[in-house]
Amino acid sequence: MDRRRGLAELPSPFLSERVPKKLFIKTYGCQMNVYDSERMADVLAPLDYALCAAPDEADLVILNTCHIREKATEKVFSELGRLRDRKAARASTDAPMMIAVAGCVAQAEGDEIVARAPYVDMVFGPQTYHRLPELIAQADPSSRPSGGRAATKGAGLVDTDFPSDVKFDHLPAVHGGRRAMAFLSIQEGCDKFCSFCVVPYTRGAEYSRPVAQVLAEARALARDGVREITLLGQNVNAYHGACETGGEWGLGRLLFALAEIEGVARLRYTTSHPRDVDDALIAAHREIPAVMPYLHLPVQSGSDRMLAAMNRKHTAAEYRAIVDRLRAARPDLALSSDFIVGHPAESDQDFAETLRLVRDIGYAQAYSFKYSPRPGTPAAGDEQQVAETVKAERLAGLQQVLNAQQLAFNKSKVGEVLPILFERAGTHPGQLVGRSPFMQAVHCDGPETLIGQIADVEITRGQANSLAGRLVTPAQPEERIVA
Ligand code: SAH
Ligand code: SF4
Ligand code: F3S
Repeated sequence: MDRRRGLAELPSPFLSERVPKKLFIKTYGCQMNVYDSERMADVLAPLDYALCAAPDEADLVILNTCHIREKATEKVFSELGRLRDRKAARASTDAPMMIAVAGCVAQAEGDEIVARAPYVDMVFGPQTYHRLPELIAQADPSSRPSGGRAATKGAGLVDTDFPSDVKFDHLPAVHGGRRAMAFLSIQEGCDKFCSFCVVPYTRGAEYSRPVAQVLAEARALARDGVREITLLGQNVNAYHGACETGGEWGLGRLLFALAEIEGVARLRYTTSHPRDVDDALIAAHREIPAVMPYLHLPVQSGSDRMLAAMNRKHTAAEYRAIVDRLRAARPDLALSSDFIVGHPAESDQDFAETLRLVRDIGYAQAYSFKYSPRPGTPAAGDEQQVAETVKAERLAGLQQVLNAQQLAFNKSKVGEVLPILFERAGTHPGQLVGRSPFMQAVHCDGPETLIGQIADVEITRGQANSLAGRLVTPAQPEERIVA
């Protein structure tokens, strides 16, 4: 496939016979997929595709998939089964449905998808979204002059290249869309090859977007009213973007520049790897008020034996030392992590060390998973797999400790006045939902004019997954962003 063809070079029947079409995107997996789904919608907007609320009414359904654990992949195939029936019901009408599979399952299992689900029209990996218009032009029967399917592989078109051109250089400009918070992908891919993980295979090698591109996107978001930007990357703190004036910037330096942009009140970044926490990043936490006091810094295990087996390339003591330095820079820093229990060869002793680390560090929030063997990863072939029952037992034990820590952290905020960025209206009339600096969801009563703004809230209740509070700052209608 020619990698450099853009919209202007699409077959003319496709452009000349455009009629408004409905697009439904279902997103699985991490925040990078959320960002990618928005960008796919942006790419398709000039082709008159507008987002709709349900797959039944859509002309094009895209499943943006996740391959990280077996369950995530299974979900995609069950959703495809449901879509098959809908597509069949519409086959004989004048409004046929197209089905596309994007994302990490597409990348990892492209050929298997078209073999198992021949009704899928298109399969494309995370690095080819900028070529979507071209792919759709080829797959869409209404856009093909001859009605024949060109360049098909099996039933559907498959594009799982890692192109030499970079999608970010071809995607249309972003818009804030009247939101309070937005994601901004600055880095993609991974060169770390942890024993258990598919990401280096599905997303490819590490890539950092140039500094100027990132700053321009952040300015556009801020101009549209976005107050909080979360920088994304599979290894976001491995960021090393080229600077126009020469050299490369790391994440720390980038955060200093982003904090200068008018309207940017809050900055976050995820996901970080402990090995890439450097002095500049710690300085950013110490010196930039907009860098929020919450950090997702996955450790996976507290056992050095497991960390070595996982190829994490740091010890538990090194992780503790990094946390100490971060907390010295920003004493109120709340921490989050990912944990895997039952990685091959994990013993009771290894697991006990994970629990010890969790108790010592004290997490505000965390994600924990049973190890799931992934095809093609080194750990999947390890003979020392841990029994499912043992994994389940360990996960329950770990989650008990983590949940108690999360509840204690949330309760510790009761009585404090926190600046809350309001995102949306709540479920009850008059209720608003926002985020604390520590990523907690906060519910309180207040006028909708506060959506998109930061206001002080006195926390009155701390629950397992959210806080409740009372507004203490009067609304400032002249500053409102969303009425
Ligand atoms: N880049 C991030 C993690 C990305 S994947 C990092 O290095 O920390 C998100 C999380 O999914 C991982 O942190 C890990 O805890 C979990 N995960 C990845 N592969 C897994 C597997 N095979 N089984 C169970 N959990 C897994
Ligand atoms: Fe996966 Fe490890 Fe890369 Fe994180 S650092 S994306 S866990 S390989
Ligand atoms: Fe899943 Fe791919 Fe993200 S495997 S976690 S969607 S990078």
